[in-house]
Amino acid sequence: MTAYPKTAALMARGAEFLGTEHAVLCGAMSWVSERNLVAAISNAGGFGVIACGAMTPELLDAEITATAALTKKPFGVNLITMHPRLFDLIAVCARHKVGHVVLAGGIPPKGSVEAIKAFGAKVIVFAPTLALAKKLFRSGADALVIEGSEAGGHIGPVSTSVLAQEFLPSLAADHVVFVAGGIGRGEMIASYLEMGASGVQLGTRFACASESIAHPAFKAAFFRANARDAVASVQIDPRLPVIPVRALRNKGSDEFIAKQIEVARKLDEGVVDMGEAQLEIEHFWAGALRRAVIDGDVESGSLMAGQSVGMVTREEPVTAIMAELMGDCEAALAGR
Ligand SMILES: Cc1cc2nc3c(=O)[nH]c(=O)nc-3n(C[C@H](O)[C@H](O)[C@H](O)COP(=O)(O)O)c2cc1C
Repeated sequence: MTAYPKTAALMARGAEFLGTEHAVLCGAMSWVSERNLVAAISNAGGFGVIACGAMTPELLDAEITATAALTKKPFGVNLITMHPRLFDLIAVCARHKVGHVVLAGGIPPKGSVEAIKAFGAKVIVFAPTLALAKKLFRSGADALVIEGSEAGGHIGPVSTSVLAQEFLPSLAADHVVFVAGGIGRGEMIASYLEMGASGVQLGTRFACASESIAHPAFKAAFFRANARDAVASVQIDPRLPVIPVRALRNKGSDEFIAKQIEVARKLDEGVVDMGEAQLEIEHFWAGALRRAVIDGDVESGSLMAGQSVGMVTREEPVTAIMAELMGDCEAALAGR
């Protein structure tokens, strides 16, 4: 007997797909989503996802082993599609019989979806447009996450509310679709479920849970921040592409603007060529998320956070966050 019957009914398809009690994923967050947070989410009835990020296959192997030692519940692995050793990472997932692999960061390269399905795992993908989503489902993807620009980390240009209206009416009847980006409360979960979503994915709301290994200074920055502090990175010069990332504004993000102006000037003066200039921009944030999450450098590190950060006000165990989300969702659906 569940304490959340109306929510459970609307989450049934998503929960069955994930093998969980609740169709609530904690989206992979590089450096944050390691064994402790992932296991805590899964033990609380949600679906934890290991952020592989730039890990080597050996490190991923160790992380999966360590996570499995902390939970008997299902969890997934998030792989970045442009990782140079993507297929070796898939082989590691196969050895561990990981049940769900999330492919993030771009269109899945040829053969990757097939390689994952070959060992019986389910493939979860992201798609920025409805046409691409349909194509990915035709090519074998088992579920989709639509993620709006309110989210923390790398983002697209369209808000979650608009993506939900565009994607859910066309896809939700036949496919498992999870909605992510800007979800901070259960009432919001209720509304996406009512629109046909099979479940939801949150990152920011879980990043500072007691079980998260993020540095106390990183967590304190989240507790202090309001929605308006979580800003998307700005591109100054059309020649120097910047992939938008939503993070808390700090000294580093201000310096990034100055850096782009400086590099554009060097390009105009012929001091650097286009390749060198673009590399200089790309390298600016190298290692910056680790510096913030692990070392607590909240001045120059990257404080990736979504707009729901204003609803993160204190450290709480994952079970408490989950109970609040589920309780508020249930109350909204029950019209209480
Ligand atoms: C600190 C941080 C790091 C993240 N790192 C990744 C990542 O490595 N891979 C990924 O697919 N998404 C990443 N994300 C996005 C989350 O998985 C999730 O989709 C997003 O946080 C959901 O939106 P929300 O922040 O509004 O809850 C990150 C988000 C945050 C806040």
